[in-house]
Amino acid sequence: MANIITRTAEGVVDWFNARAPGFMPVYRKHMSEYYAPKNFNIWYIFGVLSIVVLVNQILTGIFLTMHFKPSAAEAFASVEYIMRDVEWGWLIRYMHSTGASLFFIVVYIHMFRGLMYGSYQKPRELVWILGMLIYLVLMAEAFLGYVLPWGQMSFWGAKVIISLFGAVPVIGNGLTEWIMGDYLPGDATLNRFFALHVIALPLVLLLLVVLHIFALHEVGSNNPDGVEIKKGPKGNRWSTTAPADGVPFHPYYTVKDGFYVGGFLIFAAFIVFFAPAMGGWFLEHDNFSEANRLVTPEHIKPVWYYTPYYAMLRVVPNKLGGVLVMFGAIAILFLVPWLDRAKVKSYRYRGVLSKVLLGLFAICFVWLGKIGAGPGTDPVETIIGRFLTAFYFLFFLTMPIWTRIDKTKPVPDRVTTHD
Ligand code: HEM
Repeated sequence: MANIITRTAEGVVDWFNARAPGFMPVYRKHMSEYYAPKNFNIWYIFGVLSIVVLVNQILTGIFLTMHFKPSAAEAFASVEYIMRDVEWGWLIRYMHSTGASLFFIVVYIHMFRGLMYGSYQKPRELVWILGMLIYLVLMAEAFLGYVLPWGQMSFWGAKVIISLFGAVPVIGNGLTEWIMGDYLPGDATLNRFFALHVIALPLVLLLLVVLHIFALHEVGSNNPDGVEIKKGPKGNRWSTTAPADGVPFHPYYTVKDGFYVGGFLIFAAFIVFFAPAMGGWFLEHDNFSEANRLVTPEHIKPVWYYTPYYAMLRVVPNKLGGVLVMFGAIAILFLVPWLDRAKVKSYRYRGVLSKVLLGLFAICFVWLGKIGAGPGTDPVETIIGRFLTAFYFLFFLTMPIWTRIDKTKPVPDRVTTHD
């Protein structure tokens, strides 16, 4: 029996190879002959988990689109209909709404890993830049999606965020109207946001993810030691020319990743089944009431993944200044590959200064997130927010200095796992 299955599978592969000989080399380059460093640790699963969440968003999004009505008059009720009347609709919707938060959790950890191991350093600058473009598109995609259910926070969140464009000198007001297609978020806004959310941005995201991975596979993965395995000795049990410290991505890492994906799905299922709104963090309480342009919610605040930037916007007293600081905070991340002048990649071999500053940076980001999620009325918190914003920028602006003066440890010739 097994023999027949193997022969049939080989027959199918031969059939494809005879007709499309270009496929096999692509499979080999990216899977069976992509030699990934053998010392990957748990931080290295978050790229794959990002793909898993992306696929989840697309699949559940397709089913939501089948029942959702993209009009200001019907959107809210259609979501309620999905939740109550569509078979398994509640599950599909919660998988999608929880998926958005999980996406950002996974992507933030993925980015932090990049910062820890200097994965953006030469020759992986392009991988980082493409990652940053993904991050930008992802933020836009999540914002557009949040407007669609047409709840109170959808409406008022959209109003606040779109109004930011009003801070642009001269054309500000015209730009705001142009984006909304109205003087307030309305039917036209919802229609265009729907089009962008379900087709335009997902296409861009998919393309960017493919480019991100292709760019990575051109240069090869970094690893927790920050050692270039391509520069080390050659020859392993699969190939005489491959890096000695590399293992074929398939089957070694596909199996390992599969295990972690299973664990992640169990974790995600717990949230979807037991805490889909996560106490108002993943789905805000105000969004369970329909949009009403005559009633302003008490606190308008975005979902948690934007709150660090939202805090920066709020603590700057001037509107245009706040907008510039907020966008500047994201823009500066693009420059990290050129701001970091350290001779070693991984924090394992960096000095205390770099480790402490990176730790403080992480705390600063989370703290800003907490401030941005609050009502923004506490003056002490505003002052703290200003200090944290200043630290955020100083961390990057002084990076060329502290990465150069910090004492580094000798980097081993090969990755530290040799068995
Ligand atoms: C949809 C979002 C994303 C997906 C699906 C994705 C996917 C991946 C995958 C599969 C890998 C290889 C496995 C790994 O190293 O974890 C990877 C590596 C990498 N990604 Fe992403 N990524 C995403 C977003 C980002 C973002 C936002 C950044 C940073 C701005 C980023 C920066 C990097 C870097 C620097 C590497 C190389 C890591 C190394 O070799 O050490 N990625 N990504």
